[in-house]
Amino acid sequence: MLCLGIESTAHTLGIGIFSRDKALSNAKRVYKPMNEGIIPRKAADYHSAEFAPLLSESLSQAGVKLSDIDLFAFSQGPGIGQCLRTSCAAAKYLALKYEKPIIGVNHCAAHVEISKLCAGFSDPLVLYVSGGNTQIIVEEKTGARAGSEKAGRGARAGSGTDKGGKARKRYHVLGETLDIGVGNLFDNFGRALGLEYAHGSVLEEIAKSGKYVELPYTVKGMNLLFTGLQTAAEKKLATASKEDVTYSVMETSFAMLTEATERGLCLTKKKEVLVCGGVACNKKLQGMLASMASEQGVKFGVAPNEFNADNGAMIAYAGIAHYSRGKRMKISECKPLPNQRIDGFNF
Ligand code: FE2
Repeated sequence: MLCLGIESTAHTLGIGIFSRDKALSNAKRVYKPMNEGIIPRKAADYHSAEFAPLLSESLSQAGVKLSDIDLFAFSQGPGIGQCLRTSCAAAKYLALKYEKPIIGVNHCAAHVEISKLCAGFSDPLVLYVSGGNTQIIVEEKTGARAGSEKAGRGARAGSGTDKGGKARKRYHVLGETLDIGVGNLFDNFGRALGLEYAHGSVLEEIAKSGKYVELPYTVKGMNLLFTGLQTAAEKKLATASKEDVTYSVMETSFAMLTEATERGLCLTKKKEVLVCGGVACNKKLQGMLASMASEQGVKFGVAPNEFNADNGAMIAYAGIAHYSRGKRMKISECKPLPNQRIDGFNF
C-alpha cells in the first residue's frame, strides 16, 4: 500500500510517501517567523503557496504518480486551525479526485508511531516533547477488535468508523505540561534574548559555552510547569550572561523532563524509553535520557532528526497503520480538530 501523508499542524508543511514500513519520500518546507511567534494567517498562507511545488517534489523523490497512491492521510490535530485546513482540504480534494480512501491522523500519535518504527521498539514509555506539546505517554491495549464495539471517546473525537482489522489500542497520558510546551519555553526565551529566529536549535548553540546558574525547578509527580522558569530566566538576564542563562534554562528543563520520565518508568516497569518530537533532536536531552535509561537498565531510543521534526512521512506511516487496523473515514468526517488529544481516540 502506498500512502501519501500531509502534515501542516504549525510551521511545517510536509508531504511524505510511505510504502508499508518504508519511507519513499519526506519533502518539507518550514515557515520561519522572524522577530515574532507563528502568526496563524501568515503560516497558512505560506503552506498554501508552497503546497503545489512540494507535492511535485515529494512525488518525484518517491518516483510515483498521484494515480499510484492508495490512501491519502492528513494531520487532523492538534494544531493551529488555519494551518490544519491546508492538509485537510488538500487530502479531501486528492481523495475525491482519485477516488481513494482518506484518513485523518493525530499528529502526536504519528510522532510516537514513526519513532517506534525507527527504534524497533514495541511497548515503550514515550516522552513527547515539541513546541506545543510535552507529554509522558504509554500505550494501553484495549483487547477489543476494531469494529467489535463502539469507538468510545474516539467517536466524539472524530476517529471515523472501524471495519475489522487488528486489535485496537489507546494511548494513556501519565503526565504532561500544565502550562506551555518545552519547545514553546525555548521559543519565548529566544525572543526575550532578541534572536531574529527564536528556535531551540539556535539556543542549543548559544548554550554550548554557558555555565549553570540557579533557576526554579517545578515537577509535580509526572506533570511539569515551564512558565515560572521562563519568567525567572528572563529576569536572570539582568545579572548573568545570555550563554549562562540559556545553558541553565535547557539544563533545568531537561532535568525536569528526565526526572518525570524516570518516575514514569519506575511506575510502569517498561523496558524501553523513547523520546520523540521536535525537541527530541537536542543532543543534551538525548544524553540525559540515555544516561537515566542506562541506570534503570532499560533501552533508550530516538528516531533520526528527519522524523523528530514535523514531517509528512510520519503522517503517511500512521495513516497506513490506522487503515490496516480497520479505520475508515467519510469525507464528511474530515475536518480539523485543533484540540484533539492523543488519549482521545482509538488507534
Ligand atoms: Fe510535532
